[in-house]
Amino acid sequence: MAKINENYLKLQAGYLFPEIGRRVSEFVAANPDKKVIKMGIGDVTQPLVPSVVKAFHEGVDEMAKGETFKGYGPEQGYAFLREAIAKNAYQDNGIDISADDIFISDGSKCDTGNIQEIFGHDNKIAICDPVYPVYADTTVMSGKTGNYNSGYYEGIIYMPCTKENGFIPNLPTETPDLIFLCYPNNPMGTVATKEELKKWVDYAAENNSIILYDAAYEAFITEEGIPHSIYEIEGAKEVAIEFRSFSKTAGFTGTRCAFTVVPDELKAFDSSGKSVAVKPFWNRRQSTKFNGVSYPVQKAAAAVYTEEGKKEVTEVIAYYLENARIMKESLTEAGYEVFGGVNAPYIWVKTKNGMSSWDFFDKVLNEANVVGTPGSGFGPAGEGYFRFSAFADRESTMEAMERIKNLK
Ligand code: MLT
Repeated sequence: MAKINENYLKLQAGYLFPEIGRRVSEFVAANPDKKVIKMGIGDVTQPLVPSVVKAFHEGVDEMAKGETFKGYGPEQGYAFLREAIAKNAYQDNGIDISADDIFISDGSKCDTGNIQEIFGHDNKIAICDPVYPVYADTTVMSGKTGNYNSGYYEGIIYMPCTKENGFIPNLPTETPDLIFLCYPNNPMGTVATKEELKKWVDYAAENNSIILYDAAYEAFITEEGIPHSIYEIEGAKEVAIEFRSFSKTAGFTGTRCAFTVVPDELKAFDSSGKSVAVKPFWNRRQSTKFNGVSYPVQKAAAAVYTEEGKKEVTEVIAYYLENARIMKESLTEAGYEVFGGVNAPYIWVKTKNGMSSWDFFDKVLNEANVVGTPGSGFGPAGEGYFRFSAFADRESTMEAMERIKNLK
């Protein structure tokens, strides 16, 4: 008799973004004349930049000729991309990460979920509340939790991020084995200073924990001195895995390319208490279950690190950050309390008069025809908040803000 993985039955409703999509489709079907502006899911709208497109075309052309055609590539990614990442994202910034520590993948969503598989079921996981839902849902899927109970899964250590603590989690009172951190933060748009990250690195070292550090939004950091990588902190190579992505950095949400960094120094423990290097486990997982990202996509991703590519990508990020600035200003003028949006493409807004997140979602959709994401969808501590993403085009961003300003 085939048995399903009953952990899936513990999951609540649908995954957040498809659920929003469903509600929006219903609204559009009932109101075909309304122009809906989408600021819900953090999906980019600006096209791939010229250098990336050129490299992408070249990659496809190579696949079209017998002499340059490529079949399976290395599961870890092509050396040219791993080397470009090691140099540009790390070594040029004084961080000692080598190409061999870098694993190319088709997305940080997949990697942050898949990484759980190389760690035992009895690991205790800590996540922020609110949080990017993938960390919680994949923890449930991988069998590391009990049931869902009043907004929380039993067995997960939740670290509330509220206005009172500046949306920065305190160290947990119960010691976790794995700690998910995301900076710049999705959904709250906050960043962690060097001191803040050092506190976590030291804590992980003291407790033999591992930090799963999602830096998918690092390219949006505008302020000096904010770390772009956890490896800027001394000792982090011993305690952290870092996830980065080309999705938001270079418009690859539809093209798919990301990478995960697992340094040689990172160790976990076997059941006898002996320390074992983590990297070979991730390598084994990837080479067994993954056949790499397509060659043209990896060529396109490498072009992000050319002189032209860097310039072009920076301009696109500046465009989204200008959207964020406009949104922050307009929402503040409209009387909302607004957070984030300076070093991140997300604006975290407090609803007025204690309105619930989903009530605000309905109000904004029905009356302003704008889609955002209810804060409570990211966790109970997000109740009463709402997330707007800054990835729409400029005209839509301005129109959406005008409509929200006119809400009664
Ligand atoms: C989000 O809106 O939180 C992100 O776009 C989702 C993702 O990157 O998977």
